[in-house]
Amino acid sequence: MNVIDSIPEIRQLRWADPTLSWGLVPTMGYLHEGHLALVRRAKAENDQTAVTIFVNPAQFAPTEDLSTYPRDLARDLTLLQAEGVDLVFTPTATTIYPPDFQTTVTVQQVSQPLEGAARPTHFQGVATVVAKLFNILQPTRAYFGQKDAQQTVVLRQMVRDLNFNVAMIICPTIREADGLAMSSRNAYLSPEQRQAAAVLRRALLAAQSAYAQGERRGDHLRQLMTETINTEPLARLDYVSAADPETLQELTDVEEGVLLSTAVFFGKTRLIDNILASAYEMAK
Ligand code: PAF
Repeated sequence: MNVIDSIPEIRQLRWADPTLSWGLVPTMGYLHEGHLALVRRAKAENDQTAVTIFVNPAQFAPTEDLSTYPRDLARDLTLLQAEGVDLVFTPTATTIYPPDFQTTVTVQQVSQPLEGAARPTHFQGVATVVAKLFNILQPTRAYFGQKDAQQTVVLRQMVRDLNFNVAMIICPTIREADGLAMSSRNAYLSPEQRQAAAVLRRALLAAQSAYAQGERRGDHLRQLMTETINTEPLARLDYVSAADPETLQELTDVEEGVLLSTAVFFGKTRLIDNILASAYEMAK
């Protein structure tokens, strides 16, 4: 496994044999089973697999957890080695953002609601770094988790708008036994908060079950999620949403699919989760 922090060396390896397909899994490290599921899929579908580990300062607001974001590069590399990853890109912040850096990528409408309302500069940071990683590695396919639903919508829009020649592969959320979506930020939770955090999944399942029984009123789906989250004393609701899965606009009446999502604080830790519900999903 090659572990590389320089862009010229990445390019040299990437193009050593131009006939090979490359799968890319962009990460901020502190890997868990969710990341490893993306790695396994990338390995199954490509000749070569690359993982990037970069805690991207541009996607954190000054008030957010950049300095405390969990990091363990040695452990990450051991896990990736065991998965048979070919290349790990571990750039420094100045490699990605040299002192004269002045270009950003903004995906307009779909970056604004939900996470974008709570974190106004977040998706510009995500889109800019992912555009750079795509240009540096030029992968055939790139793998992202459905857990960050809005991120997948923003990045798919960017790929279409800017004609990146990359297939975007969105993979299912990987969950703990009690349904909590895996996330590096789960490490911040106290044992009591960790137990309470299962309420996100319960709230989404309550709305999904109502949808399956024919509920199509957006307000009622949102209300069900709110009521469920409010049953948990350690949870402080940030938002619930029943939105169009493509535009991310809140729905009054669900016609086809609906992205049910929520963000909830447990102390200072903010967790997100979502379920995509559609007539098609229900029939599966
Ligand atoms: O999902 C993440 O871990 C990050 O947002 C990403 C895509 C690696 C960009 O920094």
